[in-house]
Amino acid sequence: MNKPKVFVTRHILESGLRLVMDFCEADVWPGELPPNREEILNHVRGQQGLLCLLTDRIDREVMEAAGPGLKVISNCAAGVDNVDVPAATARAVPVGNTPGVLTDATADFTFALLMAAARRLAEGERQVRSGAWKTWSLDNLLGADFSGAVLGLVGFGRIGQAVARRACGFGMQIIYSDPNPNVPPDQNRVRTNETRIKAKRVELDTLLRESDFISLHTPLTGETRGLINAAAFAKMKPSAVLVNTSRGPVVDQVALFEALKSHHIFAAALDVTEPEPLPTDSPLLKLDNCIVVPHIASASWRTRQNMSRMAAENLIAGLKGEHLPNCVNPEVYSRSKQVPN
Ligand code: DGY
Repeated sequence: MNKPKVFVTRHILESGLRLVMDFCEADVWPGELPPNREEILNHVRGQQGLLCLLTDRIDREVMEAAGPGLKVISNCAAGVDNVDVPAATARAVPVGNTPGVLTDATADFTFALLMAAARRLAEGERQVRSGAWKTWSLDNLLGADFSGAVLGLVGFGRIGQAVARRACGFGMQIIYSDPNPNVPPDQNRVRTNETRIKAKRVELDTLLRESDFISLHTPLTGETRGLINAAAFAKMKPSAVLVNTSRGPVVDQVALFEALKSHHIFAAALDVTEPEPLPTDSPLLKLDNCIVVPHIASASWRTRQNMSRMAAENLIAGLKGEHLPNCVNPEVYSRSKQVPN
């Protein structure tokens, strides 16, 4: 029996690659860098499945290039802002993602960034490496305290709640804002998975004004693009530390640069930027109070193996005509296929 043909836009880890190679005739992009636009359009032609990464823009043109035989798009990430999901839905093509398995790794790393920015870890390391550190002193690289500080979580889904659980251990006060009515309502004790924690739902404005630490955990949508802009920075405390592990465009980077340079806020740490990678001459990289790392919040061995496996399972389920284990547009299963002109 002929195996279904798929395009895999980059090497995924062994746990997923093995499943894909066993079940499919796979064209796996061999490059370390993502395929460019033209390469995606060429390689996707005639494929029944597409397994892609968050670096690939999968829009209507790509789906058209694949043709009517395209049965599934499996994104190896929790976020799907790189995929035009409505265009896929209009073609009755299910889109898969990999939520859940990266919650703990991302929450852990969020804390690493909060601490690194607040306690000036990167500055300290540069001091030592450059020989600028001459002796221990009482006032070298003073930073912010965690205990008793207010942590504001913008977005209180799985990852935001996991960060909140960690923050409890540090004795922080937690407030959160989330436009999604399905997240826990305004109450003093919030049940997050197995744990009950003290956290209060507030308006975004209140969160911006009252937080010592602000951490972003919202998907990138039309509403959240540029959410943290000049007006938002104007409301923050001078002691505020901002961490972004969501998506780069949620923060207006020009406004961020101004806020950091003028010390209107204390520090920032970015796992995600716009674009990625940030050009090496970006003004943000010249600031001592800004840490930028290469989108690695979920980069633990176990997590990336699990993401790869889940992406493969979504792909294979779609090729078999089964419901994807993790599907972001389940409405495709209740509508007939209509390919728009
Ligand atoms: C995601 O999955 O959306 C993260 O940004 C990368 O793990």
